[in-house]
Amino acid sequence: MAQEMTMWGDDIIAARNDGYSLSWLEQLSERQDRSDIDVESLPELSDNLTGRLHGAIPRPGLPQVGAYAFRTKQEVWGYNLRKLFEEAVSRQWSSATDVPWHTLEALPDDIERAECQLATFFTEVEFVAADVPGRFISSMSPDYDETRQFLLTQVMDESRHMDVFRKRALANGGGLMRRVDTTTGVVGGRTDDARDFIEMSSRLHILGEGGVLTLFRLGELMAYNDAEKTIYRRAAQDEARHVAFGILHLKYLGEACPERREEVHTYLDEAEVRQATGAGGENPAGSNALTSEALAVLLGGGKDKVDEGYNILMAIRKRQAKEYFQRLKSCGFDDRIHNGRVNPALLAAVKDS
Ligand SMILES: [Fe+2]
Ligand SMILES: [Fe+2]
Repeated sequence: MAQEMTMWGDDIIAARNDGYSLSWLEQLSERQDRSDIDVESLPELSDNLTGRLHGAIPRPGLPQVGAYAFRTKQEVWGYNLRKLFEEAVSRQWSSATDVPWHTLEALPDDIERAECQLATFFTEVEFVAADVPGRFISSMSPDYDETRQFLLTQVMDESRHMDVFRKRALANGGGLMRRVDTTTGVVGGRTDDARDFIEMSSRLHILGEGGVLTLFRLGELMAYNDAEKTIYRRAAQDEARHVAFGILHLKYLGEACPERREEVHTYLDEAEVRQATGAGGENPAGSNALTSEALAVLLGGGKDKVDEGYNILMAIRKRQAKEYFQRLKSCGFDDRIHNGRVNPALLAAVKDS
C-alpha cells in the first residue's frame, strides 16, 4: 500500500493544490493490507453500534444507529459462509426464463388440484422461510457481515420460490387452493415465533427446511412434466444451501459455546415432534391431511391410487428422518441419537429404512 502511495504521490500533490484534503487516503498507508481482515480478527463480542463494516476504520462522533440484539460471534457466525454466499450469488435463477413452462399439459382434474394444493402450501411456507430469517438480519452486528449477506441471499431465494410455486398454481387452469393451517396442533414454539437466532435456525434450517429439501430432491416422483421437475430441482439446490448454513452455524456454536448445547437440544426435541407427527403443518409429508393427501394423489398417480401414494409417502418420511440424522451428525449434535434422546418415531423410521 505504501508503494502505491508513492506512485500516487504526484497525483495527490496536484489534487491538494486543487483544494482537496485527501487525508482519508493517508490513513490507508498506516494500515496493513486488507487481506489481513479474516475470521481470526472477528471480535467475540461486538461493540460496533454505528453500522461500521468489519475492518473499516472507525470514526468518532457517529450516532449509534444499531441497537443490535445479536452481538456475539458464537451465536451468529458459522464456518465457510463466504463460500456459501458466493455460491448463492452464482446460482440465482429466474422463474420466468429457467422453467420450461411450455411442457405443461392439461392434467386430469384430481392430479391438477393436488398439484395446485401442494403449490399453494409451498407458496405459504416460502413466505415464512423468507420473513423469519429476514427479521434477524438488521438485528445482527455488522461485524458478522458474512451471516447477514448469506441470509439476504436466502430471502431472495425464498422470494423466488414463492413466485415459482404461485406461478405453477396459476399456470395450468387450477389456481390457488386452500390455505394450510400451520397454527394449530403446534408442539412447543413455532419457527415463526422464535425470538432468538439459534432457536430460529435450529427450527427452520435444520428441521423445517431439511424436511422440505428431502421432498424437493425427490421431486421426480411427484412431477408430471419438465416444468415441475425443473422447479423442484432448482428449489432443492437453494434449500441445500439454506440447510448447509444451519449446519455450519450450529456446528460452530456447538464447539464455541458448549453451554448452549442443551438449549439447542431442547429446540430439537420440540421440532422433532413436529417433524414426526406433522403437527403445525410444517412438514408437507407429515400427517397434515391437506398436504399429505395431495402428495399421496400425486405420488400414486390419481385419487383412485392414494393407497399406493401413501406407501411412497411413508418411504419419503423415512428418507426425511434419515437425512435429518445425517445433518445431526454433520453439525455435531448426534449425541442425541446415541443417548436415546432423539424422537423414538424418527429413530424407528431410520432403523426401518
Ligand atoms: Fe424455499
Ligand atoms: Fe429455504
